[in-house]
Amino acid sequence: MTLTTAELAANFTGKAKSYWTTERINKLKSGHKYHVLPSNAPLLLRALGLLNKDASMSADSTRKFIQVNHLLAQFKPHLEDLNNRHGKIRILDAGCGSSFLTFILAWAYQEIWSHKALLIGIDNNETLITKNNKISDDMNVSEILKFSTSPIADANWEKLLAEHDPEADPDPKKSRPHAVVALHACDTATDDAIALGIRLKADFIAVAPCCQAELARKWKDMADLGITNPLKPAYHNPHLRREIAAHMTDLARVLILRGHGYEVTTTEFTMSHATPKNTLIMATRRGNYHKESQAEYADLAAWMGGSEISLAAKAPFSTN
Ligand SMILES: C[S@@+](CC[C@H](N)C(=O)[O-])C[C@H]1O[C@@H](n2cnc3c(N)ncnc32)[C@H](O)[C@@H]1O
Repeated sequence: MTLTTAELAANFTGKAKSYWTTERINKLKSGHKYHVLPSNAPLLLRALGLLNKDASMSADSTRKFIQVNHLLAQFKPHLEDLNNRHGKIRILDAGCGSSFLTFILAWAYQEIWSHKALLIGIDNNETLITKNNKISDDMNVSEILKFSTSPIADANWEKLLAEHDPEADPDPKKSRPHAVVALHACDTATDDAIALGIRLKADFIAVAPCCQAELARKWKDMADLGITNPLKPAYHNPHLRREIAAHMTDLARVLILRGHGYEVTTTEFTMSHATPKNTLIMATRRGNYHKESQAEYADLAAWMGGSEISLAAKAPFSTN
């Protein structure tokens, strides 16, 4: 006899309930306040690969479990702020990959906040999108969590809404995404996500950049051309060039976001031992173009010998 998805889900939830006694939960929490627990989120933790078939958790998964809770804690205040301001929250996860974050958020919208939401993950990897849709069904969140195959730069929000939320207000100002997130979208895909968020006037943009290679490539070309400026010593040192260029890329992103009227904070994405790609840029739209940050970006680009990040062209400052 083949069990339905709902029966399999009920089966696993039952197993988790019996396995995760109060004593085991307290040991797992070891004094911390975690929102996601095997007792209240068994299907989520199974979908993320953190619970075994018998609902137990390995030592390695326990470390990832702590990261899951840390990640939710980072986003929670920002999303609760959006929840207080909007009746139905729309979130776009750009370059969602296996969609770790969006599964957690979909769970939180259903189980913690009980707030209306639509979360859409896009990625140019069709295989992952098909897999995510199946997991979304298994987790019972497919009503609010949808996936589509699309390159970030070509993402058409109106088309995505028409596909996944046909009842949304056709006025794009009223049906914009409230949040655009991109975790470890490779190299300039992060810039595509930021540009998309700025263009759609998302209230909140959060990116954890990775593989920021664009400036380092430009600096190498400048070294080959013998172009002189204060950063020249870094141009000739591949390791330093990559490291400095990655940080300069993120600083340039911060200034461009500020120039577009976002209030920006940067922080560690997760515990420092977990990943070397550990910067999280969080930006909240306040609406006023910030001329000083626009000038600071121009100064920074000039100081770097005129090398700019592609986000500058993807999200140009308005001239008025
Ligand atoms: C390192 S994975 C991160 C996935 C996920 N956000 C996470 O944090 O687990 C990067 C993902 O971005 C996707 N990606 C990279 N460039 C993209 C682009 N230009 N458009 C759409 N997806 C892209 C890749 O297919 C991959 O799934």
